[in-house]
Amino acid sequence: MAYPPLFLYILLVVFGSYLSTISAAGDGEQSFVVVSTRSFQTQDVCSTSTSTVAPRPNGAAVPLVHRHGPCAKSPSTDKPSSFAETLRRSRVRADYVMSTMQMQDQEEGKVSIPAHLGTFVDSQEYVVTLGLGTPAVEQVLLLDTGSDLSWVQCAPCNSTDCYPQKDPLFDPRKSSTYAPIPCGSDVCKILQSDDHLNNGCSMNGNGTQSQCGYRVEYGGGSKTSGVYSNEALTLAPGVIIKDFHFGCGYKQGGPNDKFDGLLGLGRAPESLPVQTSALYGGSFSHCLPSVSSGTGFLALGAPSNTSGFSFTPMTQFVDSVTDYVVKLTGISVGGKQLRIPGKVFEGGLIVDCGNIISHLPSTPYAKLRSAFRAAMAAYPLIPSDDHDTCYNFTGYSNVTVPKVALTFTGGVTIDLDVPNGLLLDGCLAFTDSGSDGYVGFLGNVQMRTLEMLYDVRGGRLGFRAGAC
Ligand SMILES: *[C@@H]1O[C@H](CO)[C@@H](O)[C@H](O)[C@H]1NC(C)=O
Ligand SMILES: *[C@@H]1O[C@H](CO)[C@@H](O)[C@H](O)[C@H]1NC(C)=O
Ligand SMILES: *[C@@H]1O[C@H](CO)[C@@H](O)[C@H](O)[C@H]1NC(C)=O
Ligand SMILES: *[C@@H]1O[C@H](CO)[C@@H](O)[C@H](O)[C@H]1NC(C)=O
Ligand SMILES: *[C@@H]1O[C@H](CO)[C@@H](O)[C@H](O)[C@H]1NC(C)=O
Repeated sequence: MAYPPLFLYILLVVFGSYLSTISAAGDGEQSFVVVSTRSFQTQDVCSTSTSTVAPRPNGAAVPLVHRHGPCAKSPSTDKPSSFAETLRRSRVRADYVMSTMQMQDQEEGKVSIPAHLGTFVDSQEYVVTLGLGTPAVEQVLLLDTGSDLSWVQCAPCNSTDCYPQKDPLFDPRKSSTYAPIPCGSDVCKILQSDDHLNNGCSMNGNGTQSQCGYRVEYGGGSKTSGVYSNEALTLAPGVIIKDFHFGCGYKQGGPNDKFDGLLGLGRAPESLPVQTSALYGGSFSHCLPSVSSGTGFLALGAPSNTSGFSFTPMTQFVDSVTDYVVKLTGISVGGKQLRIPGKVFEGGLIVDCGNIISHLPSTPYAKLRSAFRAAMAAYPLIPSDDHDTCYNFTGYSNVTVPKVALTFTGGVTIDLDVPNGLLLDGCLAFTDSGSDGYVGFLGNVQMRTLEMLYDVRGGRLGFRAGAC
């Protein structure tokens, strides 16, 4: 199959006008940052600035935007949910993952997760626009490292079986390259063997036994089912994956909303990076923009020069085919290292770009919260019975926020973006995942502005600061 040669994609990237952000004066290490409170406000214009995707000898990159932001091709008309609602959804997503874990090997620190756990679709926030079919039709897809199979809603489909979306439904009958995957093919068998959800020949779109069916149920009750299909996927002009396997969804249910489908980036055979591993080596990276008016990128393939990245080992749970797991070893707030015994981090953190908020075990969460509150003592907390830490910045034109740094195995220390890698709607974007030693989640707020390179074969996750 003919793949395009070297492809290097330079992105025009967008920042909000909040770049009046300035660093606090200090000797050497700056531990606090003064930010304009305008940076907490939603920007309604997609404005411009530049950023580059690190050069890839054989890679492809696509712009990535916030679902609710002005840069989205078909932005969600719904208001972004409140922090309380975001927190609730984030906990549903996390609880779902945790509830499916078998903790039998807990003493040895091993956790096993059954294959193909779905995730809570509605909590996703970042989208990419890709072209599907021939001629290519633009599809707005949610990004998810917590699931594998990609899907779009397909025509014909009525309003009972498909939820309303802004773009027209993808119509396979109008594409010259569309083909359902035959039941009994190897691709269908892999899907069937990987899944406990009745995929394959026993389940298919139109009641015949000739097509490979798929079905995914996510944690929040969302589901999609239809025909597992083969189609041309256009990543960028001229960069076409000829044989991309995805789900043509003829029946969706649950709290889905407006987007056209989902792009699965987990580590099972159905995911985009695994399907394209012969071409791109199975590596990919993303940079999530810090504000909803900004643009980041999703890139397939590894950069030729990774000297700008700091790497930490990336593992997976026993029996888990989907998740990427890293281990935290320490946290600092305002330049001061919190005293946290290392064993509380033993459960690891699932790198989950589909979850907004990070979930930390009880002890590190409580210490982070109290250090952050102490550093922010000048600002009024909004009373809440939900353990959250939300500030009322009314009347302040700028706010002094402590830097928060996360240290991962291998001594890799990452400064989170201030304020957008820490605060969401004026609230500290971390929550309690439960017992110490239990698994947590690295959510997408904390990933903002970092290029995160999933070097799957190398078993490591790279971070590059200030990438978008
Ligand atoms: C929608 O389509 C499904 C399957 O084709 C059918 O069972 C259902 O009755 C239809 N609903 C409406 C409102 O037309
Ligand atoms: C059902 O699948 C068969 C086999 O691919 C196809 O010929 C037929 O057109 C499909 N029927 C519908 C209603 O989509
Ligand atoms: C990689 O990039 C760094 C800095 O960006 C540069 O110093 C180094 O020489 C580069 N290495 C190679 C092999 O090009
Ligand atoms: C925030 O502070 C302002 C002024 O001090 C007050 O009017 C407003 O009610 C407060 N909002 C909340 C949510 O506490
Ligand atoms: C705070 O904001 C005001 C006006 O917006 C500005 O003049 C001042 O320099 C800022 N203070 C600091 C410490 O940055």
